[in-house]
Amino acid sequence: MPVARKRVLIVGSGAREHAMADAIRADPGKPDVIVAPGNPGMAGEARIVSPFPSSPKEASALIASLEPDLVVIGPEKPLAEGLSDALREKGIKVVGPSGTAARIESSKLFAKERMLEAGIATAEFRVAENAEAARDYVQAWGYPSVLKADGLAQGKGVFVLHSPEDLEDALQRIFVRQELGEAQQTVFVEKGLSGPEVSFIALTDGTRFVPFPEARDYKRIRDGNRGPNTGGMGAVTPLAGWSEKDQEDACQIIDRALWSMRRHGTPFQGFLYAGLMKTEEGLSVLEFNARFGDPEAQVLIPSAGEGFLTLLESASAGSLGKGTNLLKTPRVAVVLASSGYPEKPVTGTPVLGLEVARTQEMTRIYTAGVAEKDGHLVSSGGRVLSVVGSGSSIREARERAYRTLSLLHLEGGQFRQDIGLEEE
Ligand code: AMP
Ligand code: GLY
Repeated sequence: MPVARKRVLIVGSGAREHAMADAIRADPGKPDVIVAPGNPGMAGEARIVSPFPSSPKEASALIASLEPDLVVIGPEKPLAEGLSDALREKGIKVVGPSGTAARIESSKLFAKERMLEAGIATAEFRVAENAEAARDYVQAWGYPSVLKADGLAQGKGVFVLHSPEDLEDALQRIFVRQELGEAQQTVFVEKGLSGPEVSFIALTDGTRFVPFPEARDYKRIRDGNRGPNTGGMGAVTPLAGWSEKDQEDACQIIDRALWSMRRHGTPFQGFLYAGLMKTEEGLSVLEFNARFGDPEAQVLIPSAGEGFLTLLESASAGSLGKGTNLLKTPRVAVVLASSGYPEKPVTGTPVLGLEVARTQEMTRIYTAGVAEKDGHLVSSGGRVLSVVGSGSSIREARERAYRTLSLLHLEGGQFRQDIGLEEE
């Protein structure tokens, strides 16, 4: 009797979801992969269901009609809005935290409470009721200090302050011009820390977890970490300075966070992302995210290889094996972004050279901000695609990624030249 192919549906539309689709498709059971809403650059790896409603009620009804065996939710917004809850109510298996557990990302204050409860190292902080209180704390602590607004602010809610001018500018933007909207309702001041940043992501069933190798993303638009913040211009794994002790400490952070989430009555199932800073005193948590990082996913998900779907199924069934170690294959992801990104991305520009670039060995191309026009792909957002190179060393991975990138052409396109350079 023929065995029915499993159907897996991924919610999201970026390069992260494309990398997930690619890994799930490699499963020996040859599953049917759907991405909703996806993007037209994924059509080779998955079936695209677009448009896709954003309200959890409508989205879950549409998903139910597609009868998936498993759903994986990529981005933070549907998680924070409770899409996984709506799906679970319908008896659909999901990888992704409940809306209340996703508060570990959507509310920085909630995350801080969990960290304090669990004894996880994080920067000292104070809630500031108004601009005057914020100014007093910063003046007492000196520089660098950090102002953070609670809520999902798409990376715009954090102001690292190096001078009184930075402080006054941030206070103006938060309290006077109210640029962050709802997110400004709670503002807190944090002591500035320094050291290299590390992204540490684990897949968890709520109790047990499988850590992905450590990675770093590059948030600034220009080489040398200059220019405005972006959604991420590249990623690299593994990291040269990462020790066994760091690995143990990072696993302990995940373990303690999961414990605190269970204790609080909001167990966390899905991808738990710890944004860490390696300070002189050890690892400190800057933030938790309730999802895989993007572009970290593009370099890390291939580490799970064709076992990715099995891991996802175990996480959703609550039966994740302990001690699973994923291979640390060197990988570099370089993001190709539109002209004008991040302020005002130019869209509608043709993406040329994809056909040849896609045939290059040990490289993958994962698309994000693309649309179809007259049978060709054009840019439709800030981050257009990620080129991922793998190799036996970071140098080799870098060379492959950049060689493949050189085969692509996007008028006015921007990319960083230094992704992974210091890890070689
Ligand atoms: P977050 O969204 O909390 O991760 O903050 C975004 C970025 O701000 C981080 O990736 C860091 O580069 C920086 N940052 C956040 N908190 C601190 C801190 N306490 N000290 C220094 N830099 C910070
Ligand atoms: N790359 C950082 C993030 O996904 O939040």
